[in-house]
Order: sequence, then structure tokens, then C-alpha cells
Amino acid sequence: MKILFVADVFGSAGSRAVRDRLPGLRDELAIDFCVVNGENAADGRGITPKLADRLLEAGADVVTLGNHTWARNEIVDYLAASERVIRPANLGAGRPGRGLTAAPAADGTPVAVVNLLGWLFLDVPVTPFELLDELVDEARRLAPVVVVDFHAEATSEKIAVARLLDGRVTAVIGTHTHVQTNDARVLPGGTAAITDAGMTGPHDSVIGVEADLAIRRMRTGMPVRFHPASGDVRIEGVVVECDADGRATSCQALRVAID
Ligand SMILES: [Fe+2]
Repeated sequence: MKILFVADVFGSAGSRAVRDRLPGLRDELAIDFCVVNGENAADGRGITPKLADRLLEAGADVVTLGNHTWARNEIVDYLAASERVIRPANLGAGRPGRGLTAAPAADGTPVAVVNLLGWLFLDVPVTPFELLDELVDEARRLAPVVVVDFHAEATSEKIAVARLLDGRVTAVIGTHTHVQTNDARVLPGGTAAITDAGMTGPHDSVIGVEADLAIRRMRTGMPVRFHPASGDVRIEGVVVECDADGRATSCQALRVAID
């Protein structure tokens, strides 16, 4: 099975790139299952129901989110009802939505997807380590192939989680920093891992935001309203191949220039 993970879709440029290019990319790469992180789709913060539907229509089998999950009020009811758009599992008990789902790949084989937030430098009510074992066990009861989107800031935490889950899941894909790391690999136990899959959006920017605005806020310490940038748009992500038992056989970073 070949799985495509599309890294954090940022703003309208990122959403457009997915809409225009993902269907063709799925065909060209013979992808059986596709996960898209959509947590920055709505102008860089959060996602709306309409944008989530568009990612699904473009070929995402499951959409994952991150630290901006609740940035848009209108997504709350949508998440409560959706089986295909999930949010980090460790946002606190009783919150709407789910942190684990399973959906069929092209040949009908179920694939489970888990979404978790890191706790180093991020504000989370529950550490991922408190939930990991239970979530992974539950995911493996649903499907032999399990993809984990670990949305986290710190490289150390992302590598630690990949090592911790080696041999228990198909892939641990790091997201959130928007900078693709040069460490796509299959760990000794058969788990594909990359510390960060990158960003699908405008790279002529400071991690998606117009560079001038990000620099002005940092230099002055004053509030500056951010706008998504528009230049050097890329789809970034990772392609993982695995056997029917869920063991990964290859892991390759992906970078596709759009304009
Ligand atoms: Fe994020």
C-alpha cells in the first residue's frame, strides 16, 4: 500500500494547490490512501467546514488538525459529526470530535489515522504520552495500517514519539513547524518516520505568513495583523509504502512546485 501524507495546508494558496494538484498527484504516484493536515487552511489558522469538504473532495481520505483546531467556531459542530476530519486526541476530555478514525484505502483495506499534539512549547491539557498506548492499541484493533500525525514543535519530542511507536504503527509523521526535515526513514521496527513533513502553501514567507509582517512583529514587539503569503507555492509531504501487515518498507519526502 502507498500512502501520501500532505503536510500542513496553509491559507488559500495551499488549499488551491491541493484542489488543483492532488487528484493528479494521487494518480501519478498510484496512491492508495491520503491524509492531509488542514490545520492552517483558513487564512493560516484553523479550518472551516467548507475548506474541510474541499480537501476531502480533492482526494484526502482523512483530514487531520492541530493546535489551531478551535480557531474557527463553525468547525465545532462539523467536527462533532465528522468521521473523516479529526482533531488531536489530547485536547481534553469531552471536546467535540475524535482523535482517531479509520477509513478504507482504494482497495477497501481499512487504514487508521491518529492525531496528537506535542506538549513541548505547546499549550495542551493532556500530554500525548498519557494517551499514546491506549490510542495506538485502539487504532490497531481497527486496522493493520496505522498513520500517526504528531503535530508538535520540538524535534526531540517528535523523534522520541517515533522511536516509542516503532514497530507498533506504520508511520509517525511530524507536522506543525512547516519546515520539511531531511530525515525521512524507516526505523528498525518497521515504522516510517519524518520529523516534519513541511508545508503545503507559500514558501516565499515566514512559515506561510508574509515575511514583512512576521519580521515587523518580531522587530517591534507590537501587534501586527498577519496575512498568508502567496509566492513559491509547493505541496510538501511524505510518501510511505507498507506491506499488508502495516510494516513500512519505504519513506520518502515529497516536494512538488506549484508556481
Ligand atoms: Fe500547528
